[in-house]
Amino acid sequence: MKVLLCGDFEPGEREQWLEALAAVLPQARWLDLDDARADAAAVHAAVVANPLPGSLAGLPSLRFVQSVWAGVDRLLADPTLPAGIPVARMVDPLMTAAMAETALWAVLSLHRGYFVYADRQRHGLWQAHAQQRAGEVPVLVLGLGAMGSAVASRLSAQGYPVRGWRRADGDLALRRALPHTRIVVNLLPLTPATRGLLDANFFAALPTGASIVNLGRGAHIVDADLLAALDRGHVRHAVLDVFHVEPLPAVHPYWTHRAVTMLPHAAAMTDVQSAAAVVADNLRRFERSEALLNLVDRARGY
Ligand code: GLV
Repeated sequence: MKVLLCGDFEPGEREQWLEALAAVLPQARWLDLDDARADAAAVHAAVVANPLPGSLAGLPSLRFVQSVWAGVDRLLADPTLPAGIPVARMVDPLMTAAMAETALWAVLSLHRGYFVYADRQRHGLWQAHAQQRAGEVPVLVLGLGAMGSAVASRLSAQGYPVRGWRRADGDLALRRALPHTRIVVNLLPLTPATRGLLDANFFAALPTGASIVNLGRGAHIVDADLLAALDRGHVRHAVLDVFHVEPLPAVHPYWTHRAVTMLPHAAAMTDVQSAAAVVADNLRRFERSEALLNLVDRARGY
């Protein structure tokens, strides 16, 4: 089997994938973009890591695309992705566990005021604030897919009152939940229906002092609206892993904002070893014409 392996890799990352994939699928040949186009008739499957638009052009025999990213918004937005062929996203238990850990760290830090203490330390300030119980800090998890559900369970197990909301629950359910929320954790997929969901109206519906944890995509947030809500003190703090443009440009106000804690899109990175096993499983299924796992509904966008 000849498989295209391409994407927006960090230096050395493609080599790591090649090694891990060769170990689990020794019979496959992994081609880069040039080799795949030169041998286009033989390439029926592609394994992609957030590929640049246009990457899948010129492959008329392509019948299956497996993403090693959980979020497939950029892939689905690529007009060269052949219509109608199955696309699978990455659902990897280790990546899901990493996301639950990051969400737990962010929620604990917000609830216990650790970001405030870090700031006070920088200013040489010895000053404790009142302590609250986890049970007094309601958390709203947006998005209840593999990651959102794992995050919700992890936070509930920690004693937080957790509600979940998915797009299909509708705007009214969201409007009702927001006033009772202290921390919002966003894990929605980015689709036309969720882009810009966290805007001025959304923030205004939260009680004063609520915080935002964005582990989904930068474009879920209207940055100017979040900055305005932070500056007014209506939103107390934002933990942001994802941004409209990545890396975040040096001039962006988030970098130096006192009420923003940033991660460099590192909340849950794909674990190459365990994800390679997931890829191998699906490619074997594809070869045998068996049911594929983790398929994306292309009309819905996730
Ligand atoms: C990371 O953001 C991913 O979608 O895998």
